[in-house]
Amino acid sequence: MFDRREFLATSAWAGGVWVLGELGECQAELVSPTSQKWPANYFLQGNFAPVAEEVTETELKVVGKVPAGLHGLFVRNGPNPQFPPLRNYHWFEGDGMLHAVLLRDGKASYCNRWIRTDGWKEERKAGRAVYPSLLDPPSGTNPPRFKNTANTSVLWHHGKLLALWEAGPPTEVRIPDLETVGLYTFGGKLKHPFTAHPKVDPVSGEVLCFGYNLVAKPYLQYSVIEPSGRIASTTDIDLPRPVMMHDFAVTANYAVFLDLPEVFNLERAIRGEPPFKFDPEAGARIGIMPRRADGTAIRWFTISPCYVFHTLNAWEAGDEVVVVACRSQKFPPIVEFVPTPNAAEHPNIQDSEAVLYQWRCHLKTGKVVEGPLDDRGAEFPRINERFTGRPSRFGYCGRNGGEMFDGLIRYDLARQSSTFHNHGPGRFGGEGVFVPRRDAASEDDGWLMTYVFDRNTGKSELVIVDCRDFAAPPVARVLLPVRVPYGFHGTWVDLA
Ligand SMILES: [Fe+2]
Repeated sequence: MFDRREFLATSAWAGGVWVLGELGECQAELVSPTSQKWPANYFLQGNFAPVAEEVTETELKVVGKVPAGLHGLFVRNGPNPQFPPLRNYHWFEGDGMLHAVLLRDGKASYCNRWIRTDGWKEERKAGRAVYPSLLDPPSGTNPPRFKNTANTSVLWHHGKLLALWEAGPPTEVRIPDLETVGLYTFGGKLKHPFTAHPKVDPVSGEVLCFGYNLVAKPYLQYSVIEPSGRIASTTDIDLPRPVMMHDFAVTANYAVFLDLPEVFNLERAIRGEPPFKFDPEAGARIGIMPRRADGTAIRWFTISPCYVFHTLNAWEAGDEVVVVACRSQKFPPIVEFVPTPNAAEHPNIQDSEAVLYQWRCHLKTGKVVEGPLDDRGAEFPRINERFTGRPSRFGYCGRNGGEMFDGLIRYDLARQSSTFHNHGPGRFGGEGVFVPRRDAASEDDGWLMTYVFDRNTGKSELVIVDCRDFAAPPVARVLLPVRVPYGFHGTWVDLA
């Protein structure tokens, strides 16, 4: 059994800070060796641009006060290409880098590390990019190769931190020093790629996850993992065509899948055309099946064509399954699979039309009632994960504004109201991760944490917002020594 206290005692942390020995302040521990030229590309510029250094720094300056009792690691994943691309580059393709802030006794430390995947090591050895982009037309000299970048999210479960990438297995990373352990296949039992958005049941402690395959059937597989990390079951789910399926949802009794028409076509890819195409004619469905059932038990509900990157939550209400997610009419243009060298003309996140949206699927009649819950562009939804799969009142999203999220929205679904937390002029944040207070008195008793980039200073902060006083200034701003590029998903590893 994993013992956090024992682990801490034997780890590189002591007294709540990184033990640096002689390293001193803001030590650059690894620098990208490249002097190669980075091409013009929307996702390689501004705060999308990668950082070249791995840094460790303790005793960070805090504006405000880190809440008492917060002891843990906020860790966020995101793309940070080690070398300029061979030709094209898409935001989803950069080498995974973790950015972590350790909080303890009101003090804060920061560390960032590349995830040393096999592809990262291969390119480091070569001293340049080796893997082509998904956007590069394949040829005899450019056969398609896919690098498991481990760049999308992180899962903390059975005492392991796993960096996730939806087209391959997880990569285990040690905490707190973020050293890469290696690919993690659950004792060789993992039979499919591993979504970046698994769900941990707050009651049973199980992980529910899926993987999709773009080139061979089964196009979808689903697994249940026990609290110990043992894979209890894996089943195939029949899909008529390969689609990009980024997230799903669970309720107390059901797993909920989104079969949406961002369709992959190998022939198109071979011709050098965009490999994915949003095809509303192909239709859209929500699939619902008992969590431990065989995949043949899935029942499909037709919905209006759309795309969903991220669900907020799902739960049962009488004979209905309620699903809440950020939904757009089509695949968001900001992440379309097309080359983006002309940054000035590239759509930014404000052009995305994803809004918070709800589907109510009636299990007896098969009918679906669907509609928007808001009209503001919003993404990266999160909840208090003690309510995963159960009726949840509060949800948190980034509000699309300018180059990234200009603030955070706190939705009160019961009152059909919301509160906005403004990051301020020239400041843009990422996903807000909910961190519950120890002995929390209510669902919203906790904090939202996110990295905010300040264009005025060129640096980033960890911002901690009190969810019960949401519009107020952050209770704490941990000033980081460096810039944290815009990235994807994070988690809180509670070490108290
Ligand atoms: Fe995601």
